[in-house]
Amino acid sequence: MLSAPSQLLERNIDLFDEDGWLVINPADAYFTDRLSNLAIDVLHQYFDIYAESVRVIPCTILDSRDILDTQTGIFSEQKVGKHQHFFAPFLTTSRRYRNIVIYLPKAKAHYAMLITMAAALVQKGGCVYVVGENKGGIKSASKLLASIGEVDKVDSARHCSLLKCEVTQSHPDFDIKQFLRYFDININDQEATIASLPGVFSHEELDDGTQLLLEKLPSSLRGSVLDFACGAGIIGCLLKKQLPHLDISYLDVSALALYSTAQTLTENGLTGTLMAANGLHGVDERFNYIVTNPPFHTGIKTDYTVTKRFIADAARLLPPGGDLHMVANRFLPYPGLLGEVFERVQTLAQTTRFTVYQAVKS
Ligand SMILES: C[S@@+](CC[C@H](N)C(=O)[O-])C[C@H]1O[C@@H](n2cnc3c(N)ncnc32)[C@H](O)[C@@H]1O
Repeated sequence: MLSAPSQLLERNIDLFDEDGWLVINPADAYFTDRLSNLAIDVLHQYFDIYAESVRVIPCTILDSRDILDTQTGIFSEQKVGKHQHFFAPFLTTSRRYRNIVIYLPKAKAHYAMLITMAAALVQKGGCVYVVGENKGGIKSASKLLASIGEVDKVDSARHCSLLKCEVTQSHPDFDIKQFLRYFDININDQEATIASLPGVFSHEELDDGTQLLLEKLPSSLRGSVLDFACGAGIIGCLLKKQLPHLDISYLDVSALALYSTAQTLTENGLTGTLMAANGLHGVDERFNYIVTNPPFHTGIKTDYTVTKRFIADAARLLPPGGDLHMVANRFLPYPGLLGEVFERVQTLAQTTRFTVYQAVKS
């Protein structure tokens, strides 16, 4: 189904009357289908819409060193008809686009980063458009957009607005390093430095739930571990430093998270296998343990769909005796969901806000 921002773009389809557009983070895989007659590029920072747009890739395996070596930012790319789709945290190319449209992200710092990237990628005299839900902060989005040119409101409907900004000056090349932030953590006397980009969960600080999970993870873990929904790679990195014999893989839907994880690993003298996937869809490797502070929000509304499907898939990937360790807000209905799939579920720790669960497959 077309998302509300895409419906607004569709009302303004006449804007898309020539090749050379860059679409950044479309909220669905369908709007770009409406532009199949045009040669356009699409940058996806989220693997779910990328995989749906290119229709063939269930999961992509990446090496943390390759991720940091990439000059262009591209993790994976695929041509579909006249469209070039990129899965990447950023794009740096000598190409300059005539027009760029950005779907407004949730976090302001993420939006600021996208504006800086778009300003670098657009031709002098070209336009950057921003489309987003009014309650998602389009008003303040307009102010930030004004930092690169004059802003006009093009249209507003479906509780969304479409803004246009003509960029009259050239802007410097985009440098992702300007947006990386670092912070140190210390759990059970193990230190680590965490790197994270805007748009990544707990950007610039450790989440209390993640901290509780890390404090309660047993030191008896052996074999392979999946850090599911790894964000900046905090859980897997700290585990690897505490228990170097573990073989840890890191999975997230977000290219920003995977890039941050690769940077976190480097900061701590580590390397690792990273997986871009939507939930555990397309993952067939087995793990002895899965550890996670899972996602439960998509968009502005609360949504447990990913977690429910994840719990069922986790049980499929764990061998008999394998464990899922998970932290969640204590008011979320996870004991019931875990109990539907796992034979034994126990609470390892609880605070006023969070619970750490261990679910064992017998
Ligand atoms: C609560 S955060 C936890 C991040 C990190 N593990 C931590 O504790 O700081 C959840 C993570 O899930 C990721 N995520 C959201 N939807 C996902 C999906 N469908 N598949 C995989 N990861 C997803 C988000 O990008 C985010 O990094």
